Amino acid sequence: MRYGHFDDDTREYVISRPDTPLPWINYLGMEDYYGIVSNTAGGYSFFRDARLRRITRYRYNSVPPDTGGRYVYLRDDATGEYWSPSWQPTQAALDSYECRHGLSYTIIASVRGGIQAETLYFVPLGETLEVWRVRLTNLGSERRRLSLFSAVEFCLWDAQDDATNFQRNLSTGEVEVEAGVIYHTTEYRERRDHFAYFACSEEPAGFDTQREAFLGPYRGWDRPMAVERGSSGNSIAHGWAPIGSHHVRVELAPGEERDVVFVLGYAENAADAKFDPPGSATVNKRGVRPVVARWLDPAAVEEGMAALRARWDELLGTLSAETPDEHTDRMVNVWNAYQCLVTFNLSRSASLYESGIGRGMGFRDSNQDLLGFVHMVPGAARQRILDLAATQLESGGAYHQYQPLTRRGNDAVGSGFNDDPLWLVLGVAAYLKETGDLAILDEPVPYDNVAASAEPLLDHLRRSVRYTLDRLGPHGLPLIGRADWNDCLNLNCFSETPGESFQTTENRGGGAAESVFIAGQFVLAAKELAAILERLGSGDEAAACRARAADMDAAIARHGWDGDWFRRAYDYFGRPVGSARNDEGQIFIEPQGMCVMAGVGLGDGRARRALASVRARLLSPHGVVLQQPAYSRYRLELGEISSYPPGYKENAGIFCHTNPWITIAEAITGDGDAAFDCYRRTNPSAREDIAEVHRCEPYVYAQMIAGPDAATHGEAKNSWLTGAAAWSFVAITQWILGIRPEHQGLRVDPVLPAAWGDVAVTRRFRGATYRIRVRKAVGGTGRVTDLVVNGARIEGTVIPPAPAGTMVEVEAAVRT
Ligand code: BGC
Ligand code: NOJ
Repeated sequence: MRYGHFDDDTREYVISRPDTPLPWINYLGMEDYYGIVSNTAGGYSFFRDARLRRITRYRYNSVPPDTGGRYVYLRDDATGEYWSPSWQPTQAALDSYECRHGLSYTIIASVRGGIQAETLYFVPLGETLEVWRVRLTNLGSERRRLSLFSAVEFCLWDAQDDATNFQRNLSTGEVEVEAGVIYHTTEYRERRDHFAYFACSEEPAGFDTQREAFLGPYRGWDRPMAVERGSSGNSIAHGWAPIGSHHVRVELAPGEERDVVFVLGYAENAADAKFDPPGSATVNKRGVRPVVARWLDPAAVEEGMAALRARWDELLGTLSAETPDEHTDRMVNVWNAYQCLVTFNLSRSASLYESGIGRGMGFRDSNQDLLGFVHMVPGAARQRILDLAATQLESGGAYHQYQPLTRRGNDAVGSGFNDDPLWLVLGVAAYLKETGDLAILDEPVPYDNVAASAEPLLDHLRRSVRYTLDRLGPHGLPLIGRADWNDCLNLNCFSETPGESFQTTENRGGGAAESVFIAGQFVLAAKELAAILERLGSGDEAAACRARAADMDAAIARHGWDGDWFRRAYDYFGRPVGSARNDEGQIFIEPQGMCVMAGVGLGDGRARRALASVRARLLSPHGVVLQQPAYSRYRLELGEISSYPPGYKENAGIFCHTNPWITIAEAITGDGDAAFDCYRRTNPSAREDIAEVHRCEPYVYAQMIAGPDAATHGEAKNSWLTGAAAWSFVAITQWILGIRPEHQGLRVDPVLPAAWGDVAVTRRFRGATYRIRVRKAVGGTGRVTDLVVNGARIEGTVIPPAPAGTMVEVEAAVRT
């Protein structure tokens, strides 16, 4: 069953009923100002940091779901009838409804009683504000007198404090209202130098800034007293809950259309220019007045949208594909790329499942998010690498996360995840292959943000690799520390206290738990570092690096191979995890993907055998399961993984992040059918027809789909902010379509499913544009045999970089 459809031409997902199984959201903003917006206008906004600079309030997990947002109400002043054109929060019936989620904008349109209302929400480029353009049309034959009310609830900046510290917060709320503009100024009187504003293009008939005055006692957003009454209270908030609401009267002749623009924004003043006049307690508004005036002008709104569209044309123009599969095309060309930008910007901080409070920018996560983003905005990726590396510790280890506002690492979600540092090597390698910018390796970067400790970025990579080598266990495999990629495989934790965090509780000392996953990751990272060192002409060090990779490869062969697949780990007591010897958790997905991606077992059949085991034991109709059998009870020695009911999350859920590793591994072994089959199972577009089972948005990946052990097998959770975005993009574009940046140039090495015929890809790479046509007969399963570049045949499959600005025509033939 579907709740909408893809409009591929406009690059929008069109939702045709408001009661989707879960709120289906979109993101506004791509620079400093961000918003989450659901298909019924729910959500919230923040400046840079969803915890520390929350602009509007949202109540997670509330009932009904998804209340709190960017609301407008319409009221027929002749009858007193009122409704929400976005359906929520009044839920009054609509004659028609449509939500179009586009690239960094959303349009919600509906008709009720002959009045059409279409609201466009977006954040103009270069601004720290959002525009809501409400376009009202009288479709009927009578003149109509309407009231339009806007409504947002302000958050008192620190979202954590806002949701907990009521004894203070109910007394601190402050606003100013000047010329119809509502300013939210809580705590501005003291240490804050920032405020929010909410303006309207029409002269309002009234306003409200105190929540209870607008809603009325004991009422919710579904039936505000002011709307029911048809007039605002002109309330000024003193403490309690500041809101922003305008009341605009609109008269519409038959057929008449009218735009009303609202602007909600964030502004900062210099510390010595906070007040106007100086010495007063009045916010200095000189900076924001012209900004507000500009964006209330409907012509500016049109220009702003045009600029946003042009930006997306440019970003998506970096890579586009035409294949025989529509699900592949729309994910590659639009939605997967879009999600990569969102995960790059927000890491795991703010979605409808990430509260914006708990997790900032993950070290491991952001390094992986780079992989799907670097081709679109290499400059931002460069900066991200430098920011991440600056949170690395002198030991080579890393803070597990950092706060986006301060860019400082923190231990709030734990530390000592021993895979973390190696992701930096992989992120930097991807950046270098895309850009060729070796100069980044010379950039001085501090450890833990201590300026005096700065060393060239290259030394950070050396320390990352050294970190693993300094922490090898009894089998010569890397110690796991707190956990590895799998945050829930906590082999040293032994937590018996309810509610204790598996990520921060002190580990039991003396353990020697090891990770085969990190071993594979080390092989991959050490080879990548070696390739970088070779580029720099440091042949000896590169050889040493490769030798360490070979040692690790040998350790995996000795202790990491179980007979039919790669083992997962050794526990605190030195017993294997992910082995046929275990009663549960016999085989895990992660080491199969990672070891094969690192080239382990490629020469001796282990890679193919491991992947055959994955297909036989882990494959479900909805994707590859994380491990089997699921853990049926809590196991003290394994940690959080066994805390989840079977089939959910890390306990045998389908973790979409790991599926593309299998896709890539299958492609590396040359099996295009198996690779594509794996890719297709989690492709959100390909799951659109089972939206009632999948339940999350059909246009983006979710972190997890419930596995076969769960009662709700096939149901997705935690959509949007997941490493599945970047890795799926890499899997399909670089390994199945096979267009892969390398240090020496652009590789063209597709591994396609037999059923496919020709494929075309356009790819910008280091400033040149490559138009690549792959000629393949349906039924063929082979690799490229002839590569013709601008009419001349070349050896191998790597095209040397062409001069920036040029067009390169590439013909690749797959003959068998
Ligand atoms: C989740 C993981 C997450 C971790 C860290 C766990 O409860 O299952 O997916 O990465 O918490 O916040
Ligand atoms: C979510 C985390 O963001 C990611 O870093 C981790 O690898 C997965 N969970 C698996 O535990």
